[in-house]
Amino acid sequence: MSTSLYNDHLEYITKFIYKHAGIVLTQEKSYLIETRLREVARIVGEPDLNQLIERLKTTGDVQLKTLVVDALTTNETMWFRDRRPFEALKNHVLPALQKAKPDRTLRIWSAACSTGQEPYSLAIMLEELGLFKHWDITIYATDIANKVIQKAGDGIYTQFEISRGLPAKYLVKYFQQLDGDQWQISRSIRNMVRFQRHNILTDLPPHRHLDLVLCRNVLIYFDAPSKQQILKKIHKVLNPEGFLMLGSSESTLGITDQFEHVQFDGAIFFQPAPAEQLVKPALAV
Ligand SMILES: C[S@@+](CC[C@H](N)C(=O)[O-])C[C@H]1O[C@@H](n2cnc3c(N)ncnc32)[C@H](O)[C@@H]1O
Repeated sequence: MSTSLYNDHLEYITKFIYKHAGIVLTQEKSYLIETRLREVARIVGEPDLNQLIERLKTTGDVQLKTLVVDALTTNETMWFRDRRPFEALKNHVLPALQKAKPDRTLRIWSAACSTGQEPYSLAIMLEELGLFKHWDITIYATDIANKVIQKAGDGIYTQFEISRGLPAKYLVKYFQQLDGDQWQISRSIRNMVRFQRHNILTDLPPHRHLDLVLCRNVLIYFDAPSKQQILKKIHKVLNPEGFLMLGSSESTLGITDQFEHVQFDGAIFFQPAPAEQLVKPALAV
């Protein structure tokens, strides 16, 4: 029984995850890959990692493919992740959108939403702000990993997950305690969010006219051509007065000139650049 992967199997799996999710995993990450695949092996009852890869290569087993993609994604997230941008959302971005939308509709996309803390944080913020009473609001929340989308839809979190960034006042107001250490987010908040499995690289965005897109802590897993492809796609569906919110270590700089950045209290957001500003095709880095 082998517990580490042969080199050709390692190469196969790095190509597999690049092809199916755009995620760049180099062979130096063999320890991470093997650790994660061991869990898949356990689920499908295949203790030998190299046999598991053979099965993946030869059977076309869709369920196995899904399990492998799920296992090789990194789903780290938390409530109101990074204080500053969420403060800026509350104090500047959402009030600006309220003024810019006389039709009283708001379409938001949390792309790569993981287990739902990001779109639910936003839904709670919208509710708390009180600026959007009687508005028609939809938050689309998508992710490539099946397991996280299912969990997000249930809206059930452990005490540990709750403790990562959720203020106690919101726990009291918007959650119901289930058996054990589990908490479920209220139906009214769940109803504001539509979860869907979705590959940000290959699938069409969930709506054609978006006011706010959160694409946070996911571009870091992609190479320059994939980042360009994703930002181009977002640019196409973002309203001229809309905002793009990236992760704190992410930027459009050096990838595309289709966005200009705007700063609010030290947090950076991106908006579609005026057409006359687009001087040259973007260079890949
Ligand atoms: C680190 S989490 C970020 C979650 C959340 N946006 C945040 O900032 O807390 C990255 C997420 O990107 C998802 N992901 C990776 N590749 C993807 C793809 N091609 N399409 C959609 N989601 C993808 C992963 O499944 C994972 O849940």
